[in-house]
Amino acid sequence: MTGFQPGDEVVGMTGMRMGCHAGVCCLNPVGRVLAKPASLSHETAVAALFGGTAAMDFLRRADLRESERILIVGASGAVGSAAVQWASLLGAHVTAVCSGRNAGWVAPLGATRLIDPARHNWPNPEEIFDVVLDATGTLDWARVRPWLPPEGRFLALAGGLQDVLRAPWVAVTSRQRIIAGPARERISDMQLLMQATADGRFTPHIDAVYPLGRIRDAHRHVDSGHKRGSVIVTP
Ligand SMILES: NC(=O)c1ccc[n+]([C@@H]2O[C@H](COP(=O)([O-])OP(=O)(O)OC[C@H]3O[C@@H](n4cnc5c(N)ncnc54)[C@H](OP(=O)(O)O)[C@@H]3O)[C@@H](O)[C@H]2O)c1
Repeated sequence: MTGFQPGDEVVGMTGMRMGCHAGVCCLNPVGRVLAKPASLSHETAVAALFGGTAAMDFLRRADLRESERILIVGASGAVGSAAVQWASLLGAHVTAVCSGRNAGWVAPLGATRLIDPARHNWPNPEEIFDVVLDATGTLDWARVRPWLPPEGRFLALAGGLQDVLRAPWVAVTSRQRIIAGPARERISDMQLLMQATADGRFTPHIDAVYPLGRIRDAHRHVDSGHKRGSVIVTP
């Protein structure tokens, strides 16, 4: 029993199995697939899920609370722009780091403050953030640690093995935390994201849509390192 009928419009995630660069994708729907709200296009629905599930999982693991200060680096990517919105919905004060050309659409997502690294020397060495989320992989623990209070959390979303290995050591030697590794894709988060997108509280940004036949161009676009939000591939 899947609860679905042939022809139903659905949206889902394949997790670590990946395999979505294909015209057809076959997967067990339990816990991975949900009905797509009729008001959303497939492109909008998948853009909401990719950045949204990662941002929600990391913000939950950080236990981000109302009025806390969060620094989001890479705020114009799929994950960063989702994190700006979700952190703002949770009532946090969001400082977003992104290039000036993206300021116009990132600010209304809920950023209290924007920093353009090309124009500002950031952050102010005396500034403190309860949570630092890095979606660029350019920050490391040594750099972030002075920005955190004794119970601060570093979300190394695009981090590497060193962050995963360092996390338990930091947890036993201090009250600070490093949160790293793959994000969990929960069906409950996917449902919440579909609802929030359908009722306009969450807006995934789509940079470009490529048909599968132009997959090379899609990869080239992503590999530029400066896509805005999501790049979508359609079958
Ligand atoms: N842990 C997980 O489970 C998980 C899940 C999803 C994604 N990720 C990872 O999260 C990262 C973010 O993915 P994404 O798709 O949201 O975004 P992205 O396209 O990889 O990059 C986001 C933005 O970061 C900025 N950026 C890129 N290189 C930079 C640099 N060297 N210094 C400063 N800023 C830089 C760019 O913004 P500007 O053009 O505005 O500078 C870019 O648009 C990826 O590494 C992805 O693999 C991890």
